[in-house]
Amino acid sequence: TVLGIDSSTQATKAVLVDAESGTVITEQRAGHPEGTEVDPNSWLEALETAADGLLEKADAIAVGGQQHGMVLLDENDDVVRPALLWNDTRSAPQAASLIEDLGGPGPTVRRIGSLPVASLTAAKLRWVAEHEPENLDRSARVVLPHDFVSHRLAAEGTPWFSDRGDASGTGYYSTADEDWDTDLLHLATGGRPLELPALPASPQQVMGRTARGAAIAAGTGDNMAAALGLSLRPGDLSVSIGTSGVCAMVAEARPCDPSGTVTGFADATGRFLPMTTTINAARILDVSCAMLQVDAQGLADLALASAPGAGGVSLLPFFDGERTPDRPQARATLHGMSTSTTRADIARAAVEALLCSLAGGIAALEERFASTLPGGRARRIVLIGGAARNEAVRRLAPAIFGREVTLAPAAEYVALGAARQAAWALAGTNEPPQWHLSGSTTLEAEPTPQVLEAYRELEERTETWT
Ligand code: XUL
Repeated sequence: TVLGIDSSTQATKAVLVDAESGTVITEQRAGHPEGTEVDPNSWLEALETAADGLLEKADAIAVGGQQHGMVLLDENDDVVRPALLWNDTRSAPQAASLIEDLGGPGPTVRRIGSLPVASLTAAKLRWVAEHEPENLDRSARVVLPHDFVSHRLAAEGTPWFSDRGDASGTGYYSTADEDWDTDLLHLATGGRPLELPALPASPQQVMGRTARGAAIAAGTGDNMAAALGLSLRPGDLSVSIGTSGVCAMVAEARPCDPSGTVTGFADATGRFLPMTTTINAARILDVSCAMLQVDAQGLADLALASAPGAGGVSLLPFFDGERTPDRPQARATLHGMSTSTTRADIARAAVEALLCSLAGGIAALEERFASTLPGGRARRIVLIGGAARNEAVRRLAPAIFGREVTLAPAAEYVALGAARQAAWALAGTNEPPQWHLSGSTTLEAEPTPQVLEAYRELEERTETWT
């Protein structure tokens, strides 16, 4: 029996899983304070509740955690200041200055694999160096959220550890060298030396033990854990529609996109997990529900009552600015209304906009890996996340993506992936155990390329607006 933990931005989830089959035995969750700046000790409190009664049943454990968060610890391993999380954008100017110091986007991406944008740990460290130097002077080490939670599970005296997947989201790990880049760390901290956690020699390494002797695997970032939980294979692409929209593809080749659209993260199996992330995803539906005064099913009913192309109405859904494409100051635009436009058309335009924006992420990944993909296309598109369950999203996804889509069954994929890594550490085999995911649905529809064309045209036309 293995235990997988998901220490996410909103809550901590724990799933106890049968190591052989991958069958979930029990799931528990506990909320903790949300926000962009949070006390890491609140994750430990949530862990205690979520893992209560399960920890002692597990032979191995692993933790998946929100990526990029900056946890600063003093020489007694006490928390120095609240962690700055991935969604905290105060470090945008520091991100820009770091990229400039590294000689611009091209050389930066060749070295790190990704641009150290505001979300990445390196930019947050530089922000602390500039605004709270006393806090950095008091810090002895910097770790990621999943490192912090894993270490708490380990017996006293266990050295700190991380993994290459989560490390690749810091901005001071080189995917070219497969190791920490301490010069980059010093560039971010203004020369202050900080201890970094050890990296495993192999992805299935046991990094520590609980006081009771259960094995603890390296753990990883949440997106890497989700890829493991979904059993994605090279060339498989997952599209997750949650608060943010994440398109991620397992790749054998090291990603390198100087434009920064595709982040070049490593995965938890020794491969890579290039990703595109949009800020506006499920909230496009939430905002539309609120404006049209319907619930999610009401929105789906309305959207499905209109026709492909929403009677000529297109929505550009950048309500809160956008990260892919990089338009942080943008706002949403509703275009093409006439006197015959109905609420159904507007609902349809919202669902189409969500899917068109994700189609942009899919296209960005496929373009950059075309030579490694049969026919230049991903092997499979797997849809996950809360909003993927919306009836209109399910029906329109294959039409807008222009191909068959697999809808994965609702599950805690991050915790499940962490559990699979724990099972892998227990087995010590070359590849992770094959777990069968039952309950997937194949979605098919007549492709509607004209919808995507109209969306792209609006996207281009408004490029200069903000
Ligand atoms: C990835 C990212 C988010 C967090 C969410 O770059 O910022 O997906 O991992 O927890």
